[in-house]
Amino acid sequence: SDLNIAVLVGSLRKDSFNRKLADALPALAADGVRFEVQRIDDLPLYNQDDDTYPPEAARRLKQAITSADGVLFVTPEYNRSVPGVLKNAIDHASRPYGQSAFAGKPAGILGVSIGAIGTACAQQHLRTILAYLDMPTLGQPEMFLAADKVLEDDGGIASGSRDFIQGWLDAYIGFVRKHAG
Ligand code: FNR
Repeated sequence: SDLNIAVLVGSLRKDSFNRKLADALPALAADGVRFEVQRIDDLPLYNQDDDTYPPEAARRLKQAITSADGVLFVTPEYNRSVPGVLKNAIDHASRPYGQSAFAGKPAGILGVSIGAIGTACAQQHLRTILAYLDMPTLGQPEMFLAADKVLEDDGGIASGSRDFIQGWLDAYIGFVRKHAG
């Protein structure tokens, strides 16, 4: 494949809507684009004391992000912000200071919620974090998704949402190619 996208999902839930959305993306992507959902559930809580000898799971995550052409965040909103599990993963891969895996990697943000505003607040908070991490982030189109409209019971993307999400994915892949090129 010629493009490799690291995917970070902000929910550890077995039946996570966000995980289902992340898993449905490869079928919509053009040939040559590979998505790899990164494991974050085995990361310990970030502790700066460990910066000299980071835990194995953190080194694995950093390596995957370093070798990726772009980073796609697919996350729910928890209490109007970014879930702690996702922030923990971001903190791990951003350290030690000066050795962040994220710098310069083109980012995309998707989010599914059961609430009416479809992760808008979490996405805005995430944009603040990604700006600090020096990640160019796709601004438009935005994707605030409602679980009951977007996902079928079997986890596939509902026909009424497919074109919308396809359009977003095409825009994001174009954005990654521009930065990779
Ligand atoms: C939520 N949920 C939620 N939804 C929302 O739209 N805005 C919010 O601020 C919150 N806050 C929140 C906090 C916590 C701790 C939980 C567990 C949940 C509901 C959320 O949208 C719902 O649980 C989704 O199903 C979570 O996404 P996954 O796990 O299905 O991917």
